Amino acid sequence: MKSVPYIFVCSVFLLSAKTPLFVSNIPQAHRVTVEKVTDSYGLSEGPQWDHRTQKLFFVDIYNQYIRRLDPATGVVTSAYVDHGPVSVVVTVSGTTDKLVAGSGKDLILVSWDGEQNEKNVTFKVLTSIEPSSSDTRTNDGKVDLSGRFWLGTMANELNGRTGDWGNAPKLGSLYRINETLQSEKEITPVTISNGLAWNIKDDTFYYIDSPTYQVAAYDYNSNEGTMSNKRIVFDLRKTNMTGIPDGMTIDKSGNLWIAVNGESHVILVNPKTQDLLKMVEIPAVSVTSVAFGGPLLDILYVTTSGYNLTAEERKKTPDAGSVFAVKNLGICGVPGNSFKCNSCD
Ligand SMILES: *[C@@H]1O[C@H](CO)[C@@H](O)[C@H](O)[C@H]1NC(C)=O
Ligand SMILES: *[C@@H]1O[C@H](CO)[C@@H](O)[C@H](O)[C@H]1NC(C)=O
Ligand SMILES: *[C@@H]1O[C@H](CO)[C@@H](O)[C@H](O)[C@H]1NC(C)=O
Ligand SMILES: *[C@@H]1O[C@H](CO)[C@@H](O)[C@H](O)[C@H]1NC(C)=O
Repeated sequence: MKSVPYIFVCSVFLLSAKTPLFVSNIPQAHRVTVEKVTDSYGLSEGPQWDHRTQKLFFVDIYNQYIRRLDPATGVVTSAYVDHGPVSVVVTVSGTTDKLVAGSGKDLILVSWDGEQNEKNVTFKVLTSIEPSSSDTRTNDGKVDLSGRFWLGTMANELNGRTGDWGNAPKLGSLYRINETLQSEKEITPVTISNGLAWNIKDDTFYYIDSPTYQVAAYDYNSNEGTMSNKRIVFDLRKTNMTGIPDGMTIDKSGNLWIAVNGESHVILVNPKTQDLLKMVEIPAVSVTSVAFGGPLLDILYVTTSGYNLTAEERKKTPDAGSVFAVKNLGICGVPGNSFKCNSCD
């Protein structure tokens, strides 16, 4: 299994942090640092760490870019996709120059190795996820341990503005897409399909339909890719926080890191006790999503939205739309997966 070396490295890292020999290297739990690592773009979303190349992919939804950060150099390269909003991008198993993305209503195969900017990247439509008549588009997605791509949809925004979640309700769904590119609706209806995460045992799935303010958990049958027994493991309305839950990831100890859209923080939630464990402030308005990355998977990358801000708002939050790196959290993430696809090369 590909994930083993990373979990191993992470365990060694955490172990050594407790060993007196390495005292000087101990990341101080309270010396969490937050660093802006890209320019400010539009609606930056969907961070996904590619452990094969040690790069961070993310999307700039309405500007229709797939972007790639090389943390070693700080260089961001971008590929323009001439096919409508680009909601999420994932790597493809067995390839180094192919990506699969949600764009408009479709699943597309993009040919890009990320080394150079592309003004109009080559792509082909693999399959349509939603009927052409629907007033919906693809949104967040993630690949499970078995290589299936889970891709959600949502109603098109009324005005596209982050902060008013005025989308028509219950027009979206969460789809499971397998290696033969056939999709099945697994959760429906939803309003804004967003954060997804599986626990390490791969028997629980966590899911966010943003306007519900809630994180739901399901029993997950990893053989079939099916869900059952929905329950609510966190509800933002039971805290005094405003905003809505957006992108999400899980750490090695099974806690959930959740971007709070409309606000400037990421929250850490224990889904077993429903406790809010931590809040990490990000110096930009409207946090959109999170992913662990870095060689040890111990850096939390956070995307934010700088989309459609007024000049006045922009002045107040000049870094909105940037990606931030949160370090010294003292915890590692779980490696991401690449989409297994029979006809994506
Ligand atoms: C991108 O390329 C396609 C195919 O060659 C072309 O139809 C389209 O007009 C191009 N778009 C832009 C923005 O250059
Ligand atoms: C941008 O925001 C304004 C409100 O400030 C809204 O009227 C407009 O429709 C938005 N534009 C887009 C493209 O979302
Ligand atoms: C892919 O999904 C379709 C639709 O659910 C199913 O009929 C097909 O057997 C699946 N193919 C594989 C290889 O799992
Ligand atoms: C929320 O605010 C109210 C009123 O200020 C306070 O009584 C309550 O304890 C707060 N709840 C939480 C979870 O902080």
